[in-house]
Amino acid sequence: MKLNEKIEALLKEKNISYRFIPLPENLPLTIEAHMKFHRATMDHAMATIVYKTEKGLIAAVKRADTQINLEKLKKAAGVTELVFATPEELKNLRTEVGLVSYLGLDIPYFVDKKVLDIDKAYGIAGVKTIGMAIDGKDMVKANDGIVGDFTLFEKKIDIHAGRHRILSGITPSGDGSLHIGNYLGAVKQFITLARDHECFLMVADLHALTTIQNREQLQKNIETLILNELALLMGELGEELPNITFFRQSDVSEHTELQSILNNITPLGLLKRAHAYKDKLQKDVMEDDINVGLFSYPMLMAADILLYKTDLVPVGKDQKQHVEITRDIAERFNKTFPVGIGVRPSGTSRPDPVFKLPEAYIPEDVAVILGTDGKRKMSKSLGNIIGIFENEEIIRKQVMSTYTDPTRIHADDPGHIEGNMVFAYLDFFGEPAKVDELKQRYTTGKVGDIEVKNYLYESLLKYFAPAR
Ligand code: ADP
Ligand code: TRP
Repeated sequence: MKLNEKIEALLKEKNISYRFIPLPENLPLTIEAHMKFHRATMDHAMATIVYKTEKGLIAAVKRADTQINLEKLKKAAGVTELVFATPEELKNLRTEVGLVSYLGLDIPYFVDKKVLDIDKAYGIAGVKTIGMAIDGKDMVKANDGIVGDFTLFEKKIDIHAGRHRILSGITPSGDGSLHIGNYLGAVKQFITLARDHECFLMVADLHALTTIQNREQLQKNIETLILNELALLMGELGEELPNITFFRQSDVSEHTELQSILNNITPLGLLKRAHAYKDKLQKDVMEDDINVGLFSYPMLMAADILLYKTDLVPVGKDQKQHVEITRDIAERFNKTFPVGIGVRPSGTSRPDPVFKLPEAYIPEDVAVILGTDGKRKMSKSLGNIIGIFENEEIIRKQVMSTYTDPTRIHADDPGHIEGNMVFAYLDFFGEPAKVDELKQRYTTGKVGDIEVKNYLYESLLKYFAPAR
């Protein structure tokens, strides 16, 4: 029996109402494309992920706009090992990446409770051409799901409820200018949150000292970064920016003071696990020669974040570990000094801890934006960027050199969309209908790279016109 037939039989047997929706053959296997097709928002999209554990495979179902908290999932499943299932293992389940269904596989389903509130939960019925919609509660009935709280943002931070403290920083490294990876990975999230929340944004100039120690250069970078950030913020939010406190880290001496204090409750081992330090060790440098500033970089970042009782830290994925280290340090401090400034005079209620535990805010689709080489993270230091404020000729060159589909030799060869960076960027910056049309023509060999790249170039200039 095909998986869709099995799913249908299961639903019928349990008397559950559902809807199967035929999908066009060429619909890309991405959640974005599917939701555009269903004309529904991302919170109605279900993402099912298969993990391998020491007890076998399990599936986790969540809303596409939330992230799984792996620690919580491990606890619920009673396991200590949890890694993504391999394509081979998915194949054995008769499914594949992008096609994993939220019911019908013969493995335990763990369902995040946020799914229960969704009336029309969209997913895929096991095969590429059949989508489906079902009530979240019915889905759990159908897959015998084990419901729990498995998302990262859970109770504490629902960005749609209440007003939260947001803090982010960017280091004025390189030449201080921003590229579309910085924008999509960090600045855009910050801008979205700044509409409703109380936001702090800093130019992390002390952090830049690990790479830049020339006064004029650093000053110039700081100015460039300030202008880039202000332009992006004002371009999207208007000139007033009522919710944002924008400042330079080194102007607030409490950052380094708190760093000194935190130094004294933090074990060496915690910092030795930091990726930046480990990467450096692996490269060319002897441990004894490593700059202590680089080593204690996460410490300063912890101070930045904890100082403001921050709830959420919008950053790219490469900064996630720093936020985790910050939480570790805060927990340690709170344990060591349990009575906080929130203590009530009567002493009856439990006092607030000194430091609030922050969460990283990293939407999955922008966690890592790949560079124009299509291989590595977009990064100033790798030279694989598309700038935002460069002059038009430079941006055109960067777009024209972007990696597309190496297997395509003539414009009338059918091309591939997956891994094609021009389309990856267009998903963010192009008009959805036009992008869909180009994708269709591309996969059928009816449009050349140049036309698509020209469209990306125009879309970028249009998108960033107010900021530019
Ligand atoms: P770069 O690597 O170009 O020097 P930074 O390290 O200064 O960029 O990053 C500034 C912010 O932008 C950080 O929050 C970082 O996580 C985010 N960021 C940078 N590059 C990317 C990328 N390619 N994808 C997603 N986020 C990114
Ligand atoms: N380390 C961050 C980066 O390289 C910048 C940064 C410094 C930061 N302090 C911060 C980001 C506090 C968020 C919160 O991008």
